[in-house]
Amino acid sequence: ARSLTILGLESSCDDTAAAVVRTAPDGAKVLSSIVFGQAELHAAYGGVVPEIAARAHAEKLDICVEQALDRAGIRLMDVDGIAVTAGPGLIGGVVSGVMCAKGLAAATGKPLYGVNHLAGHALTPRLTDDVAYPYLMLLVSGGHCQFLLVSGPDDFRRLGGTIDDAPGEAFDKIARLIGLPQPGGPAIEAAAQTGNPMRFAFPRPLLDRPGCDMSFSGLKTAVLRTRDSLIGDQGGLTRQDQADLAAGFQAAVVDVLAEKSARAFQAVAPVGSFCVAGGVAANQSIRAALEKVSANCGAGFIAPPLALCTDNAAMIAFAAAEQAGLRGPDDLTLAARPRWPL
Ligand code: KG4
Ligand code: ZN
Repeated sequence: ARSLTILGLESSCDDTAAAVVRTAPDGAKVLSSIVFGQAELHAAYGGVVPEIAARAHAEKLDICVEQALDRAGIRLMDVDGIAVTAGPGLIGGVVSGVMCAKGLAAATGKPLYGVNHLAGHALTPRLTDDVAYPYLMLLVSGGHCQFLLVSGPDDFRRLGGTIDDAPGEAFDKIARLIGLPQPGGPAIEAAAQTGNPMRFAFPRPLLDRPGCDMSFSGLKTAVLRTRDSLIGDQGGLTRQDQADLAAGFQAAVVDVLAEKSARAFQAVAPVGSFCVAGGVAANQSIRAALEKVSANCGAGFIAPPLALCTDNAAMIAFAAAEQAGLRGPDDLTLAARPRWPL
């Protein structure tokens, strides 16, 4: 494979990102990766507000691109292609990114690549580590939760996933409701350290059913019911209650992810690697449990560094480079796709 230098853009949720990635026969390199988060803009609303996100993306994309090129020490004229997340995601943000990328492609005559955001996450292990196809992948974040068998740059088999909430969403919601700060994942992980995971018996949804599908909304409801009865009995939650609720909830998520991961292994022919990505993969208890499953199944365990596990544009640039060998570029009719299953 020849060397390619790709500028990538990402704006499908609440991060505006641009990056430059260079691939070479001996591996790929992230030359720059700029991420502007929007957390402060949405904090007051308790969730991402699509209109606010879209406007912020439109405002920040140009400067983000400029900084990514600057940091990489490369001129726009010298990149080999422009990659952009074309879906799935919040339509306003995806449209902002696609329009920006089209503008850059039209102005320079460089090839344009529309990339599936999930493919970006799923190919990241090949950017950060020397992982061979096929490998098993678990995407687990605030917005995603699915098992994939990745057999090529554009060859993904979905083995199962959540049928309701993503785990990160559940971490965030429960943190809010038991009086812990946002983002909920790290707050619950910290609180759980002094908690007793056995005090409350929370359900492990769908473990009684075959396959790798998961559910987290019933677990969330169970935690809420327990919270409500504690508040009803005592008028509030003690610090220990918070810790025990956090520990019990986290233990249930760990059990579900571990058991379903083992089933995902059973569903595929032997694979050499088990890769995780997404913000929830930052959780040490979850990581440790998945690493154990991986070892039991004789696979290497790979969790890319967090900055490349969460939303970023380097994964989009890299996915385009991986796919460039298989398909031609898109033309200027490239459309944003709010829904785009792998
Ligand atoms: O991948 P990400 O940055 O964004 C998307 O959702 O696409 O993931 C963010 C999610 C949030 O829900 C956050 O609470 C969760 O990842 N998270 C964690 C931890 N750190 C972040 N969940 C559990 N434990 C953590 N340590
Ligand atoms: Zn994502």
